[in-house]
Amino acid sequence: MSHTNNDTNQIGLETADMSGIITKLNGLLSSYHTFYINVRGYHWNVKGEHFFSLHPKFEELYTELQLQIDEIAERILTLGGTPLHAYSDFAQYTTIKEDKNVKDGKTCVKGIVTGLQTLIEEQRDVSAAAQEAEDQGTADLVDEYVQLQEKHVWMYNAFLG
Ligand SMILES: [Fe+2]
Repeated sequence: MSHTNNDTNQIGLETADMSGIITKLNGLLSSYHTFYINVRGYHWNVKGEHFFSLHPKFEELYTELQLQIDEIAERILTLGGTPLHAYSDFAQYTTIKEDKNVKDGKTCVKGIVTGLQTLIEEQRDVSAAAQEAEDQGTADLVDEYVQLQEKHVWMYNAFLG
């Protein structure tokens, strides 16, 4: 019996199935980069009575995003893919829009809630596709981010009142 289409990657997952997961992870990587630079913008530009609480809070978030960006890129490599690494590609594949010149604290926080909600939705899709392809490692990685970001949504929404 011959199997002509049975190639697997270095961790035993079907190469053909992984190309779809890698594409989705590169989309997610693009969204993370766009959100990351939005949050840096909020950190730099926020003004007003909540400056001293929001400025460090935003730094905490973009630092977390930066670590997740690296984990996502390295997951892509583990699956046998190549992570995107150009702003032009991130701009093409992101599901999060650029948010420029926001200074008002509440508007910054609204941008963060929207960004987190978008990431959560995108990651649920990645997780479902990964589970379908028996890639539990990718599903677990993004599920962990979803759980963390769901809590962030609650906290940032509590700030908005
Ligand atoms: Fe800073």
